[in-house]
Amino acid sequence: MHPSGNHIDAEVDVRTLSVALLSGTGRMGVHLSAAWAHAGMDVRVCSRRKEKAQQIVDALLSGQGYSTGQIMVPPHPCDRPAPSASWRLQAGRVEEAADADVIVLASPFHVMWRTLEPLAPRMRGKGKIFIDLTNPWLNTSAPKGPRGQTLPPIPKAEPQASVLFHKTRFNDPTSSWCHAYRHVFWMLIHPTGPNPRCGERLGVELLGDPRAVAVCTAMIKAHGFKPVIRPGGCEVAPRYEISMLGRREKGPDAPPAAGSDPDGLIGPFSASPLIAVDALLEKAARHFR
Ligand SMILES: NC(=O)c1ccc[n+]([C@@H]2O[C@H](COP(=O)([O-])OP(=O)(O)OC[C@H]3O[C@@H](n4cnc5c(N)ncnc54)[C@H](OP(=O)(O)O)[C@@H]3O)[C@@H](O)[C@H]2O)c1
Repeated sequence: MHPSGNHIDAEVDVRTLSVALLSGTGRMGVHLSAAWAHAGMDVRVCSRRKEKAQQIVDALLSGQGYSTGQIMVPPHPCDRPAPSASWRLQAGRVEEAADADVIVLASPFHVMWRTLEPLAPRMRGKGKIFIDLTNPWLNTSAPKGPRGQTLPPIPKAEPQASVLFHKTRFNDPTSSWCHAYRHVFWMLIHPTGPNPRCGERLGVELLGDPRAVAVCTAMIKAHGFKPVIRPGGCEVAPRYEISMLGRREKGPDAPPAAGSDPDGLIGPFSASPLIAVDALLEKAARHFR
């Protein structure tokens, strides 16, 4: 029995998956694109400006990595171990995400539905898998109210979870949705596996519809992390949302706080604090390249 409560017969072969990241040019998008391409998936980095995505893809395919701003993908081989194959990685416009099997929601939460909505008519009825990375309560670029106050990212009358927000608006019974990777710092994801600064905390929390969870589980394992599946489907997602203060849900029945889960796998953007030193050194090194 799969932890999501359903029978899943066989592990998904990730090499059969086409994956589009929407948008794939940000911190999570670039690091995950490289890791998933290295794991054999057919990956498309989608952007409002294809030239921006193309520049990133060209740099990654050169094997030199990609390091700019806060994005720091180290140099890497672009051939995968046996069965040997080159990376399948390409740039695309936002609209081209509609053709993929798996769509990864990797824009800031407050613009995500605005980005996805125009594509929805072409995607509905096609059994798409959605992986929702968006953290509504960690959204530093979210719009403010007239007095500079933080606006609630999701109307209070609705379930307080991004995967439910997007799934409800997408409104397609053939699609399958999951929430994943919320607490994983982008810099921990390297093309050939976890950044050594992860230490033992290799867990990636996920939850959602069984088909999406099965696919995402395989995608997480494929780049060396450990899926930690929370039971209960998308309905339990509000319990697992996080803010700067940890889990949003508090109280004795709340799920274990990130960082103190009994498995010792999940951290709150967990890593050795030395990752901050790595970031400073990398930024300094750019001046000498
Ligand atoms: N950073 C993390 O460690 C982390 C961890 C877990 C989850 N998350 C979640 O993952 C998502 C991506 O995070 P990130 O840090 O990678 O984001 P990011 O770098 O700030 O932005 C990702 C991409 O979103 C697009 N975008 C930005 N502003 C936009 C706007 N106003 N309208 C339309 N598109 C816009 C841009 O793509 P184009 O310009 O190419 O269109 C940008 O490259 C967020 O929802 C975040 O909460 C982040």
